[in-house]
Amino acid sequence: MKKILAVILTVLLCSCSSPSSTAPQSSAEDGRVTIAVIQLLTHGSLDEDYQGFLDGLKEAGYEEGKNLEIIYQNPEGDQSNLATMADAVVAKDPDLIVAIATPPAQAVQQALESAGKSIPVLGTAITSYTETGLAETDERPGLGISGVSDNCPMDLQLMLAQQIVPELKTLGILYTSSEANSQIQAEQMEEVCAAAGVQTLVKTVSDKTMIDDTMQSFIGNVEALYIPTDNNIASAMGSVDIVATENKLPVVVGVSAMCADGGLVALGVDYYVLGKVTAEMAVEVLNGKDVSEMPIRYGSSGTIYYNPRTAENLGITLPDNILSDGIDVTAE
Ligand code: TRP
Repeated sequence: MKKILAVILTVLLCSCSSPSSTAPQSSAEDGRVTIAVIQLLTHGSLDEDYQGFLDGLKEAGYEEGKNLEIIYQNPEGDQSNLATMADAVVAKDPDLIVAIATPPAQAVQQALESAGKSIPVLGTAITSYTETGLAETDERPGLGISGVSDNCPMDLQLMLAQQIVPELKTLGILYTSSEANSQIQAEQMEEVCAAAGVQTLVKTVSDKTMIDDTMQSFIGNVEALYIPTDNNIASAMGSVDIVATENKLPVVVGVSAMCADGGLVALGVDYYVLGKVTAEMAVEVLNGKDVSEMPIRYGSSGTIYYNPRTAENLGITLPDNILSDGIDVTAE
């Protein structure tokens, strides 16, 4: 017994002292690093990503209040606040800026350009770096920004919709016109639908107040609806859910959090894991690696999620393979 205790104690002591023995090489003179984080808004996936990031940093020996200062900003989706915050963060000259979702990454890119500064930037939960002008190529980003992408294979997302509605003729696609991340996914979905002989009906909203009417306009014209990882709609899934339930319209979404908020099924990545991968990259950057040379990293090719409550409301029996391979978003 004593021996076991001693072993446990040694392990504990080792792990306690490990942060100083593997002391992160700080880029700041006083041994502390400052990381500015801009998260577009508060919603399930982005929150999970940020938590994974903080936990990942902690595991690597960076702890808030000790050797790490985090400047956290969240404009709750407000574009003009976002621009102001990006300018403010750039003015503080942190060692690293982390942007959670596409709009903050674009805002930071602009703020750096107008200030004529180059502070390393990592993005996380970003659909595409190359198609939004954040990077030249995935292998060699080249523009001072690298990071992690949450893009999932679109052909698999269509297959998921077809498993729900085998006779799928027309798939509706809904997204927010100002979100480049969503437009990219919508175009990818149109492409794979065209290749599979499925028609598409694409509609956009410019803000949340339009969701209800736009949802109504799909009814009777599509057999299923696809909504990508759209920040604006993710925070208003309640409006989507009401119309979908009333009209028994299956909604396939790009992420588990939107499935939990009323979507029927999703193929999505684990955002907590994305955050951890982002932390790994952050440590490399803080140790002097050039972001422009760090390839973009991807999450997994996606996990199936399903919402049995939505299925029940829609009167849909989910296929066995979705039930056996997928994760029940209500089971937590
Ligand atoms: N991929 C989105 C972007 O590039 C951000 C995002 C991640 C997201 N997870 C989400 C949006 C879930 C809505 C729902 O901006």
